[in-house]
Amino acid sequence: MSELSVNHLLGIKYLNKDDIKLIFETADHFKEVINRPIKKVPSLRDITIANLFFENSTRTRLSFELAEKRLSADVINFSAASSSVKKGETLIDTVNNILSMKVDMVVMRHPNPGAGVFLSKHVGASIVNAGDGAHEHPTQALLDSYSIRERLGGVGGKKIVIVGDILHSRVALSNIFALKLQGAEVKVCGPKTLIPKYIDRLGVGVETNLKKALEWCDVANMLRVQNERMEISYFPSTREYTQQFGVNKKVLDSLNKDIVIMHPGPINRGVEITSDVADSNQAIILDQVQNGVAVRMAVIYLLASKIKR
Ligand code: NCD
Repeated sequence: MSELSVNHLLGIKYLNKDDIKLIFETADHFKEVINRPIKKVPSLRDITIANLFFENSTRTRLSFELAEKRLSADVINFSAASSSVKKGETLIDTVNNILSMKVDMVVMRHPNPGAGVFLSKHVGASIVNAGDGAHEHPTQALLDSYSIRERLGGVGGKKIVIVGDILHSRVALSNIFALKLQGAEVKVCGPKTLIPKYIDRLGVGVETNLKKALEWCDVANMLRVQNERMEISYFPSTREYTQQFGVNKKVLDSLNKDIVIMHPGPINRGVEITSDVADSNQAIILDQVQNGVAVRMAVIYLLASKIKR
């Protein structure tokens, strides 16, 4: 297969197994490109991409911008804080105004779940979801699986536990879809209040004891507590959360195997992960960031090749 089955990347939910395989094989090629002295290819010289960020971002935004520039696309950036959204313009109007400047692709982060799907139905550009509220964050899940594949040789058959605030995490949902599609076994672990009631329907197991979850898994993906999405308290205190669900060197050393530790960032050192773990060889956190550029180059390149030019 040499083409994606989709024209937009709105969520992992819309992809099939072959799409993921194609994205990874394409990313392998781009990973080699970005390790050359000249880290650039001319592939998308005729494409203009708008990065629309209606919500905070550091890694994802820089990673997309770098991926676009390394493909030689023209790039424009927009952030909601400095835009006319504050003056009452609708999302469709904002985006259509940008598109009238002949933009081919939109990478969008938005606080509302489904914002990307909505936009894809109303505007004529290829849409990439860079995180829509607590819903999906497809490129994060792709780079996470790509990093597991790199460290462990594959994803199928591996045991992955996702630890923390599953309820408010778009990273968790996209990871669950991506890992299941590739044949991994998935469990979630966290306070019961932060595990959604529909979790069984996603075909994943639940483990509320962190030590047991770590004993079971090959990989633990540690998530940040999404305080910005909480209006009430979901656990008694941060200290208590860390005692029960934070990963530290002592608990890792008590396991009779080496597991891989992942984190999408931003890390809250001393809350969900201690510094000695985050900075250890078991952690692949910075590999994830590095792979993010190659994976996003692959996604953008493959979507751009479906745009009629
Ligand atoms: C995540 C996000 O924004 O969804 N970060 C990221 O994109 N690397 C996770 C988080 O904010 O905790």
